[in-house]
Amino acid sequence: MTKSESGTATISYNGSDLDVSVIEGSENEKALDISKLRGTTGLITLDEGYVNTGNTTSGITFLNGEKGILRYRGYPIEQLAAHCDFVEVSYLLIYGKLPNDEELNAFRESIRNHTMIHEDMKSFYDGFPKDAHPMAILSSVVGALSTFYQDSLDPQNAEQVEVSIHRLLAKLPTIAAYSYKKSTGQPFMYPQNHLSYCENFLRMMFAVPSMDYEVDPVFAEALNLLLICHADHEQNCSTATVRIVGSSNANLFASISAGICALWGPLHGGANEACVNMLQRIADDGGNVKKYVDMAKDKKDNFRLMGFGHRVYKNFDPRATIIKQACDRLLNRLNLDDPLFDVAQRLEEVALKDDYFVERKLYPNVDFYSGIIYRAMGLPTQMFTVMFAIGRLPGWIAHWVEMHQSPTNRIGRPRQVYTGPTERDVVPMSQR
Ligand code: CMC
Repeated sequence: MTKSESGTATISYNGSDLDVSVIEGSENEKALDISKLRGTTGLITLDEGYVNTGNTTSGITFLNGEKGILRYRGYPIEQLAAHCDFVEVSYLLIYGKLPNDEELNAFRESIRNHTMIHEDMKSFYDGFPKDAHPMAILSSVVGALSTFYQDSLDPQNAEQVEVSIHRLLAKLPTIAAYSYKKSTGQPFMYPQNHLSYCENFLRMMFAVPSMDYEVDPVFAEALNLLLICHADHEQNCSTATVRIVGSSNANLFASISAGICALWGPLHGGANEACVNMLQRIADDGGNVKKYVDMAKDKKDNFRLMGFGHRVYKNFDPRATIIKQACDRLLNRLNLDDPLFDVAQRLEEVALKDDYFVERKLYPNVDFYSGIIYRAMGLPTQMFTVMFAIGRLPGWIAHWVEMHQSPTNRIGRPRQVYTGPTERDVVPMSQR
């Protein structure tokens, strides 16, 4: 991790000056280090939505929204998607380097050894309603891992953290597949450890004990790509949540469970589900995409084009480019004629030429295409965000570990500017 000082800036307030260091990262991004601001001037900064605020330095992921660059540990996402599998990328994110053969095999082996969940955990699923959202199940069961592995909850114990990381990576697909099986009423399928990470997940999702099941390699390949593209995205809402929960020394399972909840929202990971629901709505309404583009532009209407826009990418989302290609390949190879894909293509065409979207630099994001791929695989819409969570897990873990290893780590505790009533006396009930 390289960070250097590249000069100072001066903040003037009430007749005095405060010199603050300008910190520069390895990709020449600059930041004002205002850690002494409040102590010296009494001022805090106000930055709703943290649009201008860095909450940490980080050596994991670099992205440049203007140029559409995304790199994990320095490696471009395009190269990782072309040459690596998801487990390898997980290793890279968590341990900071691409593994050699021996390291990767040992990592795979360890993950394979942890794929089953405790039999008692299966009974949790009996308590959830049949129509429970799988994201709710996912966060609950992940949080409950801390009740089963009380021997490995100490964030300061490297061995305990290591085994928790392997358990989480191994068990999340099992927990996710069981939540789907619960919704269909089919029996849970135990993991098969000779299969790859993605094959195993697909089998746990779609196999039934009464029939042979062969994993479609086209699906496994597409899934691998999607998981890689989702694996990390620096300080997004869910990752920042994992870091802030972890900063209180909450255990890894609790921190990841909180991240899953943050991801669920439709402005974040839930956008893939919301996007397909929106495409369906447009298709059911006769496929008039212009009408929906107009609705999205209408400031009196709170409708937004799901799968469009990004806080950071203001040019194109490099993940969307990779996934769009995979989406085209998959639909061609499966010879699928999905009406929603047609709506998606027309919507993209109309929006990309529309001044409103051009001026605001609103482009299709990763979630615009991922839902179409998941649909083609036969995944129900409610599972889409769960897939995002499986993909994002190594990123969350990497940030949690990085935060704990940082010598400057402190509990996350934002400030506020109070705008409520000033002091007043309680009026007795009889006089209110
Ligand atoms: N449809 C219509 N207008 C939009 C959209 C949209 N999808 N996104 C942004 N805008 C407008 C917004 O109304 C605002 O207009 P104005 O300047 O006139 O007030 C302007 O564009 C800037 O938007 P913002 O809300 O200030 O931007 P933000 O950075 O706070 O929000 C976002 C980013 C992703 C939440 C937003 O673009 C959005 O709601 N998109 C739809 C949901 C979505 O697809 N989310 C997935 C993001 S990618 C997966 C992930 O990493 O989480």
